Amino acid sequence: MTDKYAVLGNPISHSKSPLIHRMFAEQTGQDISYEAIEAPLDGFAAKIEELRAKGYKGCNVTVPFKVEAFNLANQLSQKSLEAEAVNTLKFEGDAIIGDNTDGAGLVRDIEQNLGIPLKGKRILLIGAGGAAQGVLHPILATEPKQLVISNRTPDKALALKKSVKNDVVSVEAVGFGELDNAQFDVIINATSAGLTDSEIPIPSTIFAPGALAYDMMYGRETPFMAFARQHGARVADGLGMLVEQAAEAFCLWRRVRPETKPVRDRLRLS
Ligand code: ATR
Repeated sequence: MTDKYAVLGNPISHSKSPLIHRMFAEQTGQDISYEAIEAPLDGFAAKIEELRAKGYKGCNVTVPFKVEAFNLANQLSQKSLEAEAVNTLKFEGDAIIGDNTDGAGLVRDIEQNLGIPLKGKRILLIGAGGAAQGVLHPILATEPKQLVISNRTPDKALALKKSVKNDVVSVEAVGFGELDNAQFDVIINATSAGLTDSEIPIPSTIFAPGALAYDMMYGRETPFMAFARQHGARVADGLGMLVEQAAEAFCLWRRVRPETKPVRDRLRLS
């Protein structure tokens, strides 16, 4: 019998997750269906109940429901506890198991696909909202030399820094104005500034020679990507992360790891 999965969000019509998971299923011979479902803003919990009643095996959760999914799950993985957000749910009897594959997806894209090990690197994480929190701990687990969190509202960067228990890696929180004398090997944009085509007022001196500038957004060149390119950085968008976080979720549900390269290649063409 076909096992049913879905992605829940609002809005959701532009989601690439159904295409990604259907390609994974085809590639691995798994008999699953996967659809995009728009949950009403005040009706996420009811939609989850409906899916469980209909025998769905799990779902992905995207904006704006990741915190609600975290609160709804009755079993939480370590990764979701650190992120305080859930992007993957698995339904098993009475259990609603919550996990978060975003950070692992980002790290895998940078390390495996782009070929840049993060261990020993100087990393700048720009942003201190949900997206930044979702990737912070998986980045720290790679043991970079240094992690600086920088945000338009510095207090939020400080709050995020305070959530870090890891004392192996040096973690600092600063405003954009304090980045003048620093250079980084990997600069990750986890802000939503690209959504409004806004520039982020970071100095052009932050890019170390051969630096990677990674924007977690995908779909088009953001002002951050253009700025980084102009100042000599290698630039990547978040499409690889999208596919990798999906692969982690697929693995969690189906216990098989799909190959991501053919899926990335296909999405880049569409
Ligand atoms: P998300 O879940 O995408 O992280 P969020 O929790 O609302 O959404 O956080 C948005 C992040 O993008 C924040 O770090 C925000 O900075 P502030 O904390 O100062 O609001 C950042 N952001 C949004 N627009 C920005 C802009 N135009 N310039 C710089 N940072 C921006």
